[in-house]
Amino acid sequence: MDKILEQIDKERLPRHVAVIMDGNGRWAQLHGQPRIFGHKNGVRSVRQITEASAELGVEFLTLYAFSTENWSRPADEVDALMHLLVETVKGELDVLNENSIRLNAIGDLENLPPKTYQALREGIEDTKSNNRMTLTLALNYSSRWELSNAMRQIAHKVSAGTLGMDQIDDDCISQHLTTAQMPDPELLIRTSGEHRVSNFLLWQLAYTEFYFTDIFWPEFTKEEFYKAILDFQLRERRFGQTSDQLKI
Ligand code: IPE
Ligand code: IPE
Ligand code: MG
Repeated sequence: MDKILEQIDKERLPRHVAVIMDGNGRWAQLHGQPRIFGHKNGVRSVRQITEASAELGVEFLTLYAFSTENWSRPADEVDALMHLLVETVKGELDVLNENSIRLNAIGDLENLPPKTYQALREGIEDTKSNNRMTLTLALNYSSRWELSNAMRQIAHKVSAGTLGMDQIDDDCISQHLTTAQMPDPELLIRTSGEHRVSNFLLWQLAYTEFYFTDIFWPEFTKEEFYKAILDFQLRERRFGQTSDQLKI
């Protein structure tokens, strides 16, 4: 593991890494266990990747933990996930504070079960002055929900006369998203062999590098995370330019 770590160029780290944590259910089934066993084991990976990100010097880590579409899963799985969230947020607070990690959440939070919402609010409040890294949980989040909200807010301002039509540009839209305080992710990781975005950060991912791995989330270790960062560092980000232009 140290060998991979040594190869990472600390000067060229992504400032913001986003992760679609996927494959908990299949991992559990592979072990002859109920799906929630996979979610419980996924918490260990959350801890590992949070720690690895903070140690490296990543400034923002955003984890997709529950999508708006996930409500359509069996009720007992949804209940168990919400309960696990409360336990995890409460259980990890000391570690977050020891490592000066600020907890943040994006999504339709007010429509989460009250206990989950409450635990989140407390976690966010208790860690608000930490400044080493921001850990954002995307909960009851979907990008289309976020974009619809942003458009509604913008339309409201235009009709109230506080925003001109010609002021609606890239920056204006970004400022109305839940990620307004963060740079766009430079790296998106999705585990479990799925190659799709599943309604996550559609606007923000415009120039993000995607990294896909077949590994299921409960088996995604620090070492796997380092591999993703290394892979990212080997890529050439052209932002519409040619390769030759970048060498000038
Ligand atoms: C990701 O694992 C966790 C959540 C979506 C909450 P899944 O639960 O989607 O696991 P698979 O994809 O069914 O294996
Ligand atoms: C995406 O995973 C959402 C989260 C990781 C929270 P899903 O497993 O729900 O996505 P789909 O349904 O396979 O696209
Ligand atoms: Mg899945």
